[in-house]
Amino acid sequence: MPILEDLKWRYSTKKYLDKTISDENVFIILESIRLSATSLGIQPFKVFIIEDKSVREQLRIASNNQSQITQASHVLVFAAWKHIDNNMIDAYIHLIAKTRNEELVSLQSFKNMIVQFVKEKNPSEILEWTSKQTYIALGKAMFCAASLKIDATPMEGFNATQVNTLLNFDIQGLHSSVILALGYRDATNDKLSHKAKVRRPASEFFESI
Ligand SMILES: Cc1cc2nc3c(=O)[nH]c(=O)nc-3n(C[C@H](O)[C@H](O)[C@H](O)COP(=O)(O)O)c2cc1C
Repeated sequence: MPILEDLKWRYSTKKYLDKTISDENVFIILESIRLSATSLGIQPFKVFIIEDKSVREQLRIASNNQSQITQASHVLVFAAWKHIDNNMIDAYIHLIAKTRNEELVSLQSFKNMIVQFVKEKNPSEILEWTSKQTYIALGKAMFCAASLKIDATPMEGFNATQVNTLLNFDIQGLHSSVILALGYRDATNDKLSHKAKVRRPASEFFESI
């Protein structure tokens, strides 16, 4: 079964080869993120592709000196919205109207629902909710990469405050949520590349009720 083979093939890569992912494949992975489902469809995050070498060096320092940050072909930083104001909701409602050729008035009750949903949350609940959306997209990108035989490392091992400062997220109302390194495994030097997956057995992990 190719889907399961891809999922068994992938692992969180620690060492990467100096090999660049083609533009075409980068495009596919980025599109898999953009096409990800989000709660209410509002896409409450942005994804930054860190190309600048010196920014990568500084990002590595802010990420427990993890070498994937400078070795991998591509590094994506998922940045969750820290707040959602009426302008952001309006922009989303206008995008729906334009994309689907719908009247704004027909979207009024959906807009009211979003406004109410946001109003009921405090700032930390908003950030928790927006950050969750980034993880759905992260999973999508990891699966997409595996199906293209591209390696990936999901990364939470970084200092979010330092990353927010480095990438000017604070003034943009963003918060660094998770990082994804992408590239090609260095199977000779990455001792994890040949290790078996550690997962609890299905009999323990799943339960039918
Ligand atoms: C949200 C998330 C954050 C992670 N953060 C890191 C990280 O900072 N550095 C790292 O080397 N691996 C990181 N990992 C990789 C996990 O250790 C790995 O997924 C887990 O051990 C299972 O192994 P596998 O992905 O190779 O199947 C992270 C994984 C996830 C899902």
